Amino acid sequence: MTDNDAAAVQLSIEDGVAVITVNNPPVNAISQAVRQGLVDAMKIVTTDAAIKAAVIRGAGKVFIAGADVREFGKPPMEPFLPEVVTTIEATDKPVAAAIHGVALGGGFEIALGCHCRVMSPNARVGFPEVNLGIIPGAGGTQRLPRLCGVEKAADLVTSGRQVGAKEAMEAGLIDVIAESEDDLLSAAKRLALSKVKSPLRRISEMSVPAPAAADFFTTEKAKITRAARGQHSPVRALEAVEAAATLPFAEGMKRERAIFQELRASDQAKALRHVFFGERAVSKVPGLENARPRKLDKLAVIGGGTMGAGIAVACLRAGFPVVMIEADAAALDRGKGNVDKNLEGFVSRGRLTADAKDEHLGRLALSLDYGALKDADLVIEAVFEDMEVKKTVFGKLDAAMKPGAVLATNTSYLDINAIAAATTRPGDVIGLHFFSPAFVMRLLEIVRPARTSDDVVATGFELAKKLGKVGVLSGVCDGFIGNRILAKTRKQADYMIEDGALPWDVDKAMEAFGMPMGPFRVMDLAGLDIAWAQRKRTVATRDPKERYVEIADRICEQGWFGQKTGRGWYVYEAGKPVPNPEVEKIILAESARKGIARRTIPAQEIQDRILYAMINEGARIVDEGIAARPLDVDMVKVFGYGFPRWRGGPLCTVDIIGLPKVLDGIRAFARDDPLFWKPSALLERLVAEGKTFADLNT
Ligand code: 3HC
Ligand code: NAI
Repeated sequence: MTDNDAAAVQLSIEDGVAVITVNNPPVNAISQAVRQGLVDAMKIVTTDAAIKAAVIRGAGKVFIAGADVREFGKPPMEPFLPEVVTTIEATDKPVAAAIHGVALGGGFEIALGCHCRVMSPNARVGFPEVNLGIIPGAGGTQRLPRLCGVEKAADLVTSGRQVGAKEAMEAGLIDVIAESEDDLLSAAKRLALSKVKSPLRRISEMSVPAPAAADFFTTEKAKITRAARGQHSPVRALEAVEAAATLPFAEGMKRERAIFQELRASDQAKALRHVFFGERAVSKVPGLENARPRKLDKLAVIGGGTMGAGIAVACLRAGFPVVMIEADAAALDRGKGNVDKNLEGFVSRGRLTADAKDEHLGRLALSLDYGALKDADLVIEAVFEDMEVKKTVFGKLDAAMKPGAVLATNTSYLDINAIAAATTRPGDVIGLHFFSPAFVMRLLEIVRPARTSDDVVATGFELAKKLGKVGVLSGVCDGFIGNRILAKTRKQADYMIEDGALPWDVDKAMEAFGMPMGPFRVMDLAGLDIAWAQRKRTVATRDPKERYVEIADRICEQGWFGQKTGRGWYVYEAGKPVPNPEVEKIILAESARKGIARRTIPAQEIQDRILYAMINEGARIVDEGIAARPLDVDMVKVFGYGFPRWRGGPLCTVDIIGLPKVLDGIRAFARDDPLFWKPSALLERLVAEGKTFADLNT
């Protein structure tokens, strides 16, 4: 314990108050050095007669972001956090927590070990542990209910939700809101000193108020289990809160620790840590370390349809001025209407005020004239998915945009090298592939054609960051990372319904796997007509050896395009999907026409076929260098396609279930369908070398 600037915990004495500063950049994660430093500081507080009270605060931008997640995979080192918190609480001089930025997880637990808490007005507190597949492990689930009741405590620990100063104050989690961040330390000192002569409030000594409803834990458990879709941590967090309500503090602490340790070692926690670090690693592309983004102040979109309007809204929400160009006056009007409708959705959900909506619309300029683009730093083209139309638009952009501007296309499948070749500046052309709705979905595929310069790629990542999205770099190929994998899994889904399953069997199995919606429900949501048009366009180039399932064509021929026509694979009655009985007849007729003897396909086989298809294609994508690392494939599936976070993405899942098992499974499927199930060379290589996909992430 020293007051030197490099120490993880520093102590200075000001006006009789020990100011204990946790200093472990960038987010004051609670490493072993921090834990030891806090214990040592508490010893000084107890023994130094000049100290009347203490304040714990964080250096830099946050109080404490929680346990050091990087230590989780390693053997635990003393002192352990529960003991550190107990030591703080047991101190016989008042200790106040001065919270700025965030106090999360173990950071909030340290604050709850203090005798009182002050928050700066814009700070947040919370227990995000469930998102890492664990629960609070240093008394959070035991102290919180004592402070705010079991209902609120259950809400906070099972959701991982963070609360601001106002809500924290109303819930009794803190004692004071400081006037400003600048005033935080003096407010904390005043608060701590005001407690010197009164008995100290130790939360562990308080009792837990009984829940208002006697069956609270039973009903809550059912609700949380449903919402968690296979993820264990939220239900286990509730179990720990229930322990607080039914056991003495010391026993509850033991229960919490046991659950924490069990979960910390679990596959789900491993997968969720992979997502936590993967989300941050995707923007650190090997080889691009020195690339600096170009200026990004003014944006433009071409096209005001589903995607153009959605992208415009995402950009407006991030504070950018946006120019929208359309083909004619009527389309421009529709484009404005689409933006308006999307923003209105935010207003009706209480996430935007009417005034803020007007302010957003005030930053949207509409034009039919490409001259309006002359100041734009980056333009995103989202016109019809047609190469000739795109080439014409890029020719016009080339003429209108200033030198150094970035020219991006939102194409889903087209060859961006060919689009770039329609300009005199292919080095400035890039793919920015958004997902619908663009103002909701977190994924942004940043697609790099052959001649794009590094700083243009860096600008793509900068835009992703500014829009709050997860940017993942992809090379050019048919469908890029995400839709290329999707095409394979869709094919498997098609084969299975022709072989014996029904769409709702496939959906049920994949929803049980943890997907928010099965593939057929997703198709109904997106519209069956788009894929139908694509199939008709590519009929001439289809590989005649490849199995082609016509069931979806038969459905579309009826005019059933999914939710938008009220009927697709399902019938939508009052918005709820009910299996379409006519679909079953069509499927049986198609199987019979092809002479296929239908068989029952068990849920496990459905899951394996879809998962193994994802893994195999994902591995090929890595092997070809389309994705820089396996983690990039994982983040695409997690942030763009609803792959369960707690499974970490397909290439994390295969590491967990074992590469040899999956390769054997693929080879077994290949006996019936060798064309589809050709094992990826990378997968074979990794199995031969006894390696995992994680080995390629570092
Ligand atoms: N442990 C280790 N590293 C962490 C960390 C943690 N708890 N939290 C953040 N980091 C790292 C990030 O990986 C990143 O590293 P990098 O620069 O090498 O990529 C760096 O700190 C900065 O993080 P962000 O990029 O996320 O910075 P932001 O400013 O956007 O966000 C934050 C800051 C809000 C604190 C955010 O990082 C966050 O939410 N962190 C996670 C908090 C959390 O989950 N805490 C609970 C931990 S589990 C626990 O406490 C168990 C306990 O109950 C026993
Ligand atoms: P859309 O049909 O809803 O909108 C296209 C818009 O482009 C129309 O409003 C049209 O008037 C306008 N347009 C056509 N030619 C134009 C021109 N020369 N100049 C200016 N505007 C012109 O189509 P959507 O769905 O928005 O798709 C646009 C692009 O985004 C396509 O390339 C598509 O592949 C891609 N995409 C679509 C996704 C989706 O879920 N719909 C997801 C990701 C990408």
